[in-house]
Amino acid sequence: MTTGYKTILVTPLSRFVGAEISGINIAEGLSKQQFLEVKQAFVAHGVIFMRNQNITPDQHIEFAERWGEITVNRFFQAVASHPVIAEVRKEVHQKSNIGSSWHTDHSYDYAPAMGSILYARAVPKVGGDTLFSSMYAAYDHLSDGMKNTLNRMRAEHSSRHAFGATAYVGLDDVEGRLGNVTKATQDAVHPVVIKHPLSGKLALYVNGDFTVKFEGWSKQESQPLLDYLYLHAYKNEFTCRFKWTQGSMAIWDNRATQHCALNDYDGEFRLMHRITISGECLEPSVM
Ligand code: SIN
Repeated sequence: MTTGYKTILVTPLSRFVGAEISGINIAEGLSKQQFLEVKQAFVAHGVIFMRNQNITPDQHIEFAERWGEITVNRFFQAVASHPVIAEVRKEVHQKSNIGSSWHTDHSYDYAPAMGSILYARAVPKVGGDTLFSSMYAAYDHLSDGMKNTLNRMRAEHSSRHAFGATAYVGLDDVEGRLGNVTKATQDAVHPVVIKHPLSGKLALYVNGDFTVKFEGWSKQESQPLLDYLYLHAYKNEFTCRFKWTQGSMAIWDNRATQHCALNDYDGEFRLMHRITISGECLEPSVM
């Protein structure tokens, strides 16, 4: 348990990333002090988890709005009655799941999402865990030579290959889950190493799903170094693993972490509701 909190209990899940929080009930509302401490834990651990929350979609939205402005994901199926909530769904007959490879949400946007708030409505009996990795730890454990090189670089991110017209060729079970292929026109250039807007710490900011190449480099030149960075960034020791139960909630910082949803529960239903919170343009580690 971590000390320094007066109104919540914070239990880290691993050395570098993730903490479980207890002592709050989102349906009843959080006091100013509780919310301040929850935010403090979020900044300290990159992703925080709360169990046994029994909330309606309206309460989910109300809670999310305390974190900032909601940014609606353009590609995920939305909850029909609450279009600002995206569904992360896998039906019993479906084979693929959403978010199965390491990524950070919305890095293809000019001002990428600050965070995401994922709430478990239905989970499989076993499986469907989510892994998170610390991008602070990934950066800190690079050599000085590599850090100095990456500190001056920028990388291009895109939604086109991931959500555009050709993204789902060969995948027959995305129907009803992902769509809006014509909206996949976002590209953005971000520093490869960012100075985190809240913590001021340096974090690696390239991800396997959306980073296309380094600025000024060809794709062929970029890929070997990107592959090296991904292998490094997703090392077990930089990660934590969250085992969901119905009513659990995760709030992650898209600038400090990446995540990956395991797809090991074929034949079972999993339904998560996700709200994404707007962020800002990202600053480089060196000006
Ligand atoms: C996501 O990538 O947002 C989904 C994560 C999950 O379903 O665990």
